Amino acid sequence: MILSIESSCDDSSIAVTDLNNKLLFHKKISQELDHSKYGGVVPELASRLHLEALPKILEEAKPFFKDLKAISVTNAPGLSVTLNEGVMMAKALSVSLELPLIGVNHLIGHIYSVFIQKDAIDDIMILLVSGGHTKILEMKGGYKNIKELATTIDDSFGESFDKVAKMLNLGYPGGPIIEKLALNGDENKINFPIPLRQSPEIKFSYSGLKNAVRLAIESGEYSKEDIAASFQKAAITHLTMKLKKLFKTNTPKNFAIVGGASANIALRNELEKMAKKYGFNLIYPELKYCSDNAAMIGRIAVEMYKNKDFSDLNLAIKARIEF
Ligand code: KG4
Ligand code: ZN
Repeated sequence: MILSIESSCDDSSIAVTDLNNKLLFHKKISQELDHSKYGGVVPELASRLHLEALPKILEEAKPFFKDLKAISVTNAPGLSVTLNEGVMMAKALSVSLELPLIGVNHLIGHIYSVFIQKDAIDDIMILLVSGGHTKILEMKGGYKNIKELATTIDDSFGESFDKVAKMLNLGYPGGPIIEKLALNGDENKINFPIPLRQSPEIKFSYSGLKNAVRLAIESGEYSKEDIAASFQKAAITHLTMKLKKLFKTNTPKNFAIVGGASANIALRNELEKMAKKYGFNLIYPELKYCSDNAAMIGRIAVEMYKNKDFSDLNLAIKARIEF
């Protein structure tokens, strides 16, 4: 069994996974409510809350200690001060239980969220949409060979939802709030510009759309519902337009959407349409594994354990990471 720790942002989570990918224990304490009044995650507050939550969850995982073969932990990317809480705990456990340490890239964790309690597919294209990232990735032959095909030049998809919710004074995280509001709005009410529509390049940008939404709010002409629906439509259309461009030369057999924003039903529906059109196998994580969690860290840690992909006690924290 492997014990895994996740603390890259505002979720404290611990999982125990066996080497056949069975999830034996999984618990997460989310800090969303604590950060909600600030309209975003406050790193120092998050770090202090991890310091309280992680030992509490660890106590519950103690019955598994005698069967552990390794300790895995997210060490990149994320907020340095919160990553530090998980990594310090993992190092202490590795020393005291005399077990190898596995440092996990959180983004690869998100990819493996679709393989929790399942066999992995080694060749797959991935749309990662979270609070920190908007990327198209391609994995060929397993986790050691992941290539970035596209990324955002400014804000991320999830972050744009957070910022729109903040401008409308609706709290954090914005994704689920905006999605719910959009259900009662007219998505064709406001014609927001689709970012980089004329550009032949496959890359993402959300800051211009955010500014267009700000102007619409300031005009006082529209309801919150219509703003949410029209914004969500433009944000998703930007993703699907760039994907269509990519699929002209590179059509995947397997395609996954992962990350916190992969829970968005309107986005899932658009990708279902594309799966039919292009004939690919569309995969998403179970809703409970879309946002940050330790089960996904445990799933990739099983692959890393089998490859003896261990780290030493100098395992460093990296706030940013490139593929
Ligand atoms: O993966 P995640 O939990 O944390 C990061 O690694 O960033 O993603 C959180 C992000 C937040 O920006 C949140 O607003 C967004 O995912 N999100 C959504 C939805 N649910 C969460 N965005 C759009 N629609 C949703 N339903
Ligand atoms: Zn994440």
